[in-house]
Amino acid sequence: MFVRRGLRWLREKFTSKARNLLLRVLAAGPIPRHVAFVMDGNRRYARMNHKKIQQGHTDGFIALRRMLEVCLRLNVKCVSAYAFSIENFKRSPEEVDALMGLAEEKLLELCQNGELLDQYGVRLNVVGRRELLPERVQRAVRKAESRTRHNKQAIFNLCMPYTSRDEITTAVQSTVRNALKEIDELDPITEEDIDAQLMTSLGSSPPLDVLIRTSGVKRLSDFLLWQCCEDTQLQFTSTYWPDFGLFDFIPIILDYQRKTWSRRVSLS
Ligand code: FPP
Ligand code: MG
Repeated sequence: MFVRRGLRWLREKFTSKARNLLLRVLAAGPIPRHVAFVMDGNRRYARMNHKKIQQGHTDGFIALRRMLEVCLRLNVKCVSAYAFSIENFKRSPEEVDALMGLAEEKLLELCQNGELLDQYGVRLNVVGRRELLPERVQRAVRKAESRTRHNKQAIFNLCMPYTSRDEITTAVQSTVRNALKEIDELDPITEEDIDAQLMTSLGSSPPLDVLIRTSGVKRLSDFLLWQCCEDTQLQFTSTYWPDFGLFDFIPIILDYQRKTWSRRVSLS
């Protein structure tokens, strides 16, 4: 018993030391400024592991927290996660309720115990049509955002309920409305004007360098379509989101570093 505990302690100590070293080595190379996750595969993960769907989403949140910490330790300045699409309201009321309950619980937990966000100086932005969320979740969103609004070192965009077409449509409407106010001197509407109105600009997110989708599906599903500009690296992996971890992320970072170095060489 004593020996087994001792061995477990040693193994954990060793693996955490090895992990720290690995993260430090990776962080010495070029690191993406902005990483986005399409967290897909929670229900298939739940079915595969004989768990309830709700548990699949809860385990998905644990994976999100884990990956947020990995990104922050690597010095990624902005992380965006697709937590709930506007289309997800069409899922069964039980599943929507479970996801809303999870969002409220985790956001409130963050307010009481915001050590990860405070430790790394992370500002939380909930991006999307928040007025579609139940009032109790909207309250939790306001609390969590105001709790972290003075943090300046990094940004965490939790996208819910979000779709890109909605974001772009809203941005175009605001741009036109603003332009009409200055009708006397109407300049053509530029890409920068629309960019400034995008929901993800709220926290001045840097350009999107890497977008990762899990679970073997190769679609963007209306996520960050405007932000996926020519330099964004799209990465698809077959791992279900709740199982996604450091060892799925390392090859993606190495690929980013290899491409960044070869671009620098070809420019020099
Ligand atoms: C996609 O998997 C996942 C979602 C629709 C929800 C993602 C949410 C989390 C990971 C928890 C996030 C945290 C908060 C704060 C709510 P899926 O349901 O489409 O699974 P499938 O592709 O296997 O059907
Ligand atoms: Mg899915």
